[in-house]
Amino acid sequence: MSRLLLVSNRLPVTVKVEKDTVSVVRSAGGLATGLRRPHERSGGLWIGWPGDVSRLSESQRARVDAQLAELRCVPLTLSASEVSRYYEGYSNRVLWPLCHYMLERIPRQDRDWEVYRKVNERFADLVAKHYEPGDTIWVHDYQLMLVPGMLRQRLPGARIGYFHHIPFPSSEIFSTLPRRRELLKGLLGADLIGFHTVSYVRHFSGALLRHLGLDTDIDRIIWEGRDVRVGAFPMGIDAQAFESIASEPGMQEEVANLRRSSEGQRILLGIDRLDYTKGIPRRLLAVQRVLERTPAWRGRLRFIQVTVPSRTQVEAYANYRELVNELVGRINGLYGTVHNVPVHYLYRSFNERQLVGLYRGADVMLVTPVRDGMNLVAKEFCAARPDDDGVLVLSEFAGAAAELGGALIVNPYDVDAMADAIEKALGMAEEERRTRMHTLRKQVKSRDVHWWTSSFLDRLQSLPAVDVRAEAS
Ligand code: F6P
Repeated sequence: MSRLLLVSNRLPVTVKVEKDTVSVVRSAGGLATGLRRPHERSGGLWIGWPGDVSRLSESQRARVDAQLAELRCVPLTLSASEVSRYYEGYSNRVLWPLCHYMLERIPRQDRDWEVYRKVNERFADLVAKHYEPGDTIWVHDYQLMLVPGMLRQRLPGARIGYFHHIPFPSSEIFSTLPRRRELLKGLLGADLIGFHTVSYVRHFSGALLRHLGLDTDIDRIIWEGRDVRVGAFPMGIDAQAFESIASEPGMQEEVANLRRSSEGQRILLGIDRLDYTKGIPRRLLAVQRVLERTPAWRGRLRFIQVTVPSRTQVEAYANYRELVNELVGRINGLYGTVHNVPVHYLYRSFNERQLVGLYRGADVMLVTPVRDGMNLVAKEFCAARPDDDGVLVLSEFAGAAAELGGALIVNPYDVDAMADAIEKALGMAEEERRTRMHTLRKQVKSRDVHWWTSSFLDRLQSLPAVDVRAEAS
């Protein structure tokens, strides 16, 4: 295996500062988990942002750097203005809503492009500095769409992969972006470009034809005399890890406690980052609709909605939070009693074990984003159900819907249809629940995160050897 240089906006670890104590903590996210093994095995480096380290003293900074070096993580620090204009600005105020089909959320003025471009240059420079001939470079996600092209200029012979973790929108949507051609050219610096689904691959090919006049021949594009390959590689989770936690002896007790506190009630569950793509307001309205039209459910439903704080400095997220708060209050005001409330709303982070406890105890899991690249929560729920029970209600606009046929698939824009699906899930016979969950678990376990990583890397490394003459020139 060649040495792997992983490049992502965030490192797989976060620097945490609490009073005078500074620690480097591994993150539990899908990317960090999935790439941990190849990162360790290849002896390569991971290049990315360690979070805000600006307030660390010199000695604290030196200790952090030493810990990062031990993990073979190379930090790229961002100034406050870069965080605000590259990360919160162009990445999360422009590309994020664009790729999720929310054009009305994009600011009218295209002010942050230049900083986005410059930070992408800084990433490319740092990667080039650490590159050794024979390395494989794997760049991740929309924050770094220009990096493959910039690397191709600096390292013409390098083997470069790129994976897009969010949806690639239809070319009608992508075409609205003033910088569409620059971004497409940036991606084409890679040898292999991966997406979660075949639809995203098609959308990307449509954009290439429309803006660069390029034809995709099955999975191959010729760009500047090089072959560029595209493909669908649906990301999975560490299913084994979730299943093991769910099967721990202490877990039974935790689930029993949750059940006891919900005596006589059925549990609906939602777990999301607080993001306007996640469809939380319509999901709440669907629960309200069930209570409104079927009085028998009043007092007998408990909807636990966990939202994890995210991108709190971006105003659209703060406004969305207000909206969710308001709806929760309204539904609880209407259908709560002095004994219980229908919506149990929690705004904070949970660790993996706590999440598994909730997954294990839920009757129905509601994953209803209005648009989502993949959605790993849907997969985590299935992996955490070794009892083969529980019903998954899943949005047709989540990438996961292309794989998880055992779920009840819903249109998240259709509140009535979601209410129907919730009632259907609540009334589903045990045999059907088990058959569906069995199918779902098989899928989630066979296409786990390790499958994802190796299928992408095997494909990338099997591509014809790079032209060494180009590397020498
Ligand atoms: O889904 C895309 C993604 O960038 C994930 O990789 C990440 O876990 C999530 O969004 C949150 O991103 P961040 O907190 O880095 O903005």
